[in-house]
Amino acid sequence: MFIFKRVPHLQEWIAKEKVNNSSIGFVPTMGALHEGHISLVQKSKAECDITLVSVFVNPLQFNDPEDLKKYPRPIEADIEKIYHAETDVLFIPEVQDMYPADDNLSLDFDPGYMGEVMEGKFRPGHFKGVAEVVFRLLKFIEPDRIYLGQKDFQQVAIIRKLISDLNLPVEVIVCPTLREPNGLAMSSRNLRLSEHGREEAAIIYQTLMTGQQSFEKGLTTQEIKEQAIQSFKKKNMEPEYFEIVDGFSLQPVTNRNDADFVVACCAVKVEGVRLIDNVIYKQG
Ligand code: PAJ
Repeated sequence: MFIFKRVPHLQEWIAKEKVNNSSIGFVPTMGALHEGHISLVQKSKAECDITLVSVFVNPLQFNDPEDLKKYPRPIEADIEKIYHAETDVLFIPEVQDMYPADDNLSLDFDPGYMGEVMEGKFRPGHFKGVAEVVFRLLKFIEPDRIYLGQKDFQQVAIIRKLISDLNLPVEVIVCPTLREPNGLAMSSRNLRLSEHGREEAAIIYQTLMTGQQSFEKGLTTQEIKEQAIQSFKKKNMEPEYFEIVDGFSLQPVTNRNDADFVVACCAVKVEGVRLIDNVIYKQG
């Protein structure tokens, strides 16, 4: 496995590989890796000649400086995991590599409405920061495919829009959410939950799935939302939002027939830890 820390070194290596027409699969991460991240690496390995993983804790996407400071950075363990997954290249830049002062990459993209709803309401500026770093990484690497987890559904929708608005030549591959046996979506944040909290948090996926059954039965999205909020409150959990939206535009969906692609997304605090999850209700 090659490890690069500087952009020119990485680009030099990529340029040589491109001469051989090798396809490049790219998996962007912020480290603190778990099996969910590794599943993206495996998918890329199955589909591309070269798999490149980046580990970079992007300061621009943290609206809370404390959150950025506290973000786990177990780089040795991450390198080990990436190595065992038989990744070809690992890119670990520093902040000055990603955002050099003399840089001429300027991004003319604002997620707008899509960045203001759901997660965006609770994390202002977050998606602008995500778009900025993903844009730069795509420009540096020019991969054939980018592998993203459905777990961060709103992020996927915004990155899709970024790629289509800017006409970037990369295919988006969305990978399913890996879950614990009880249904809880895998996340580095789960480590901050007690054993009891992890069991309780299973209600998030159960509630999303119950909502899906109600959706199939023809209940309105308003009724499903109310049901969901009640089921969280019964367990003394604080739902921040539970929204049923169009999977591309993220506009709320009122009726089953309003959209071909419908997804329910939610954020719930368990033991003070903010957890997000989603389930696709309809994919045309
Ligand atoms: P991070 O939170 O490290 O996630 C990296 C990738 O792993 C994302 O595409 C995310 O959706 C995916 N992922 C996380 N949990 C998963 C799970 N349980 N199953 C499957 N995939 C999962 O998302 C980011 O980093 C950053 O915003 C980034 C895109 C790297 C930009 O900084």
